[in-house]
Amino acid sequence: MKKIDNQALVIFGASGDLTYRKLVPSVFDLYMNDSLPEGYAVLGVSRSKYTDAEFRRKMKEGIKQFSHFKNAAAERINSFLKRLFYLSIDTQKSEDYELVKNRLKELNRKLDLHHNYIFYLSTPPQLYPIIPKYLYGQGLTLQQKGFRRIIIEKPFGHDLESAMELNRSLTDFFSEEQIYRIDHYLGKETVQNLLVTRFSNGIFEPLWNRNYIQHVEITAAESIGVEGRGGYYDTSGAMRDMVQNHLLQVASLVAMEPPAKVTAEEIRHEKLKVFRSLRPLSDEDLRNNIIRGQYTESHVKGKFLAGYRDEEGVDKDSRTETYFAMKFFIDNWRWSGVPFYIRTGKRLPTRVSEIVIHFRPSPTQLFKSVDGAVEAGNQLIMRIQPDEGILLKTGMKVPGNGYEVRSVNVDFHYSDLKDHYIPEAYERLILDCMTGDNTLYMSGEGAELTWRFVQPILDYWNSDPNAPLYGYPSGSWGPESADQLIEGAGTWRYPCKNLSDDGIYCEL
Ligand code: BG6
Repeated sequence: MKKIDNQALVIFGASGDLTYRKLVPSVFDLYMNDSLPEGYAVLGVSRSKYTDAEFRRKMKEGIKQFSHFKNAAAERINSFLKRLFYLSIDTQKSEDYELVKNRLKELNRKLDLHHNYIFYLSTPPQLYPIIPKYLYGQGLTLQQKGFRRIIIEKPFGHDLESAMELNRSLTDFFSEEQIYRIDHYLGKETVQNLLVTRFSNGIFEPLWNRNYIQHVEITAAESIGVEGRGGYYDTSGAMRDMVQNHLLQVASLVAMEPPAKVTAEEIRHEKLKVFRSLRPLSDEDLRNNIIRGQYTESHVKGKFLAGYRDEEGVDKDSRTETYFAMKFFIDNWRWSGVPFYIRTGKRLPTRVSEIVIHFRPSPTQLFKSVDGAVEAGNQLIMRIQPDEGILLKTGMKVPGNGYEVRSVNVDFHYSDLKDHYIPEAYERLILDCMTGDNTLYMSGEGAELTWRFVQPILDYWNSDPNAPLYGYPSGSWGPESADQLIEGAGTWRYPCKNLSDDGIYCEL
């Protein structure tokens, strides 16, 4: 592993949920894995008034709930907490940034941070253009003595125009190579494994194209609802929340060409080529190939679940989608004519994210399956979460006379490995930023290209009051019309918690 230089992580929005649940617990995981340098500090910055001691107490609770090492010995936790500091400022006031500069100077003297700072923006997005400007005002973005990097949380813009505007305002004060646009899906171990599976095995890549693949299915299902985030979610919806970023990023890793080298530049370049090849959505696509839904009240496992419109912070007449499915194409040599289906939603039967590669069936159908149906094609399922692993569905002969075929599973589960520490996405991504590796972060152009692709959907929904929004009962697999979307290609896979199981009712 690269040697990591001394440095500080400065978190803006440190009193918020993300810092408590994800960021500090992930830095603690790095500490427990001996990945932090000798000189290291976390400086939390927010408007709330905490002392260092109060901030440490709060973060200790976060660590005990959300870290991989929640049961670590008290002295280990306490010695880590000594590296945490807090500063209360009004982030909207330029003069308050002098306090940030002074506090960093003092920490530098005490902890020998080599003037290396990562600024993490975990604030409401309205502050994204402001903080860089005021940091610049204090000379804190200039890399004269140490490095200066900035991590931007999602949402990266609200639409194409705001994403372009945000890119412009960031690059006024930071150069592109200092900017780390986070997409936590890319930090997931199993998402990165996509590249390794594809490019380190001789058997998959020759088949990975329009000649052998019939269609590709990508699912990110959640069983939770909006969980107290109704205010934010109602202005966002599933398409902005999950598709423009996470799922299109995953699709680009499924679809990209092999990079010339495993470097940030080469991998990002190949991903950009995929985004540039996305077939622009026509009016017909908007009408026929996009399904949006909203969950309605229902009883699941004997428990009453409120409908989306009754959630706190949600408009009573809201037309925001909590479910989204679409069919699209990538117009390039490899993928010409191969449909990609994406689906995501809240209050679905289970939490699961996976990619299913549907191979074409064998050219002659010699055998029938047990129920008399013709053979289905093989499926390769790459499970992102939970029960991380890989599953290949393949046809085998049913023992006995005759030649009946049954689809059986060839599976690998990460949990079968003796040592299968799977780092949290944030742990991996923060570590990468510490070493200056932005491979797993979104480029400015990538963010704009994905917004450009989905913008017609937003325009259609905004301008056409008849654009359909389907209700679906909480705990179901979404609106029925989503099944019609995929009909020509078969059905969606209905995954269960366990990678090897599937079926529409498995979690009920
Ligand atoms: C976030 C979304 O980016 O991803 C949430 O804002 C969603 O709405 C979450 O719940 C899903 O992430 P994960 O890692 O649980 O699949």
